[in-house]
Order: sequence, then structure tokens, then C-alpha cells
Amino acid sequence: MSECILNLLPLHEGEREEFEAIAPDAVHVYAGRSTATPEQIASATVIFGWPRPEAMGGAASLRWFQSMWAGTDEYAGKLPEGVLFTSSSGSNSRSVAEHMLTSLLAVCRRLPAYRDSQRAHLWKDEGAMKTILGASVLVVGAGHVGSDFAKLCQGLGARTIGLKRTASGPIEGFDQVRTMDELDALLPQADVVALALPHSPQTVRLMNRGRIARMKDDAILINAGRGSVLDQDALVEAMRASRLWGAALDVTDPEPLPPDSPLWDVPNLLLTPHVAGGMRLEITRRKCVEMAQENLRRYLAGEKLVNQVL
Ligand code: GLV
Repeated sequence: MSECILNLLPLHEGEREEFEAIAPDAVHVYAGRSTATPEQIASATVIFGWPRPEAMGGAASLRWFQSMWAGTDEYAGKLPEGVLFTSSSGSNSRSVAEHMLTSLLAVCRRLPAYRDSQRAHLWKDEGAMKTILGASVLVVGAGHVGSDFAKLCQGLGARTIGLKRTASGPIEGFDQVRTMDELDALLPQADVVALALPHSPQTVRLMNRGRIARMKDDAILINAGRGSVLDQDALVEAMRASRLWGAALDVTDPEPLPPDSPLWDVPNLLLTPHVAGGMRLEITRRKCVEMAQENLRRYLAGEKLVNQVL
């Protein structure tokens, strides 16, 4: 059966030709997230990119959809029955990992407070700082992002432990890989707890009040996966009670974070508006294009696709 490929990826010059060379017999249609018409969605057998989830109900001919993001939660329950669903997991991992490291170091050195002082024209010493040299970094979620973040931390002299749902062999960046059921036991030993988990029924509020209470008083919490993983109220309470050194959140629940959320005003809590990944680095964009091309090759050859979700 001939394929009609609706390509909504942010393509650069020459990249349309790359897709067309891989699938010379297919019809290739190019559009953007907001310019794709209901007719284009309805006639596509393959879609690449970031279509509006609410438009997917009209994808009557769709056989395969590859999202351009790592997370897939926004399409849960939105795709027609039987559609093959793949993600771009791994495409943005370096970007998210660098953001996590930057935020971690900023919190270690109390940069949020120094920035506040700068705005107030205040020359004020905030006292002790932290280093990640020799620190124990517990990464909850040892996927692409977790592994890339761990590699950066290792390079700066930290000891890294990665937590996975099921046991596996060694993973790059981690001195040790353990299973998620050891989380409670490992939390009290960690100087840094970094959450790099997707949203799923198993991960919602995984980092709850009890687990925050198990963290060291001067530990740092980072969340760069999904906001739903963390009990934010419990974090605010703990930090208001002067527990934890600091925190850095790139994701919140909900997003955008409402203006009256207490999170905005917690000292040494660095908030960024879910910008760690996205298409903000060219290496991410190109990797995402290459992952679509590789899976297109596999799809046409009848091979197993990479990053299959459904
Ligand atoms: C970013 O949050 C992603 O899921 O790619």
C-alpha cells in the first residue's frame, strides 16, 4: 500500500530530499504544527512531528506516528486504535542533561540568591557553597537523559547511581545501576537526587512527602522529567522548614505554573519553564530528524522500530 507521509518536523534545507530518497514511492506532504489541515491529517498514513493531540482523532488513515518529543503523555488516549506510536526519546537528552547540570551548579553556588541581590543592587555574601566533587548523585530514571546527566556529573568528580525499573547491565555514566525498589534505602545517602522520569501511572507522585523526608537535610533535588512525579506541596513545606539545600525544577504540575503557586518564592529553588529540552539546540533538531529517517527506513523494510511506545 502506498504511503502518504505528513512531515511536521522543523526541517532545514536538503532534509526534505533526504526523506524523499528514503521513501521515493511515497507521497510527501510538509506542514507545521498549526498549518497542518484536517484533510492532510485525515489522508496521512505516517505522521512525523508534533501535531495537536486533539487533531489526532481525525487521522483516519494513520498507521504510524512518530512524535518529535521524548515524552509521550500528551498523546495518551488520543491516537486512533491500532496506530503504531514511536517517540524521539534520546534526541534531546544532551540538552536536558546540560540544563540539569547548569541548574545543579547554580543551586550549589546559590546563584538564585545572588541574582536577587544583583537586581536589588546589594553586595551580599551568601556564605557556604557546595561542590559536586565527591558528591553522591542519585539519578531516578536511568534512561537517555539520566545517563547523559550522570556522564556530565562523573566528569566533574561525582559518584553516580542510576535507578531503573528493572535490573540491567551497566549504563554509561553510572558507577552503579540499581532498581527502583531500592529508592527508599538510597535516598538518605544522596547529596543530589535528580528525577528524570516520564509521566506514567507508576511515576505519579513517586517523589512524595515521605521520600522527601528521607533526603539529607542539605541535599539538592532536581526534576527535569515530568512535574507529576513530584509532590510540590511537600517540597515547598520541607524547604520552608529549612530542609534541603536547594532545588531546581524545569517541570511542574500544572504547566504553566499558576502565578499564585508558592513554588515561585522558595529560596534557593530555581524554576525554569520546561525549557531544558525542546528544539533549542541544533544537535537536538538534527537528531530528531535522523531518528525519523532511521525509523522510516525500518518501517519500509518491515523491521522493528526504535522507541516504540504502542
Ligand atoms: C520534553 O519534555 C520531551 O518530552 O521531549
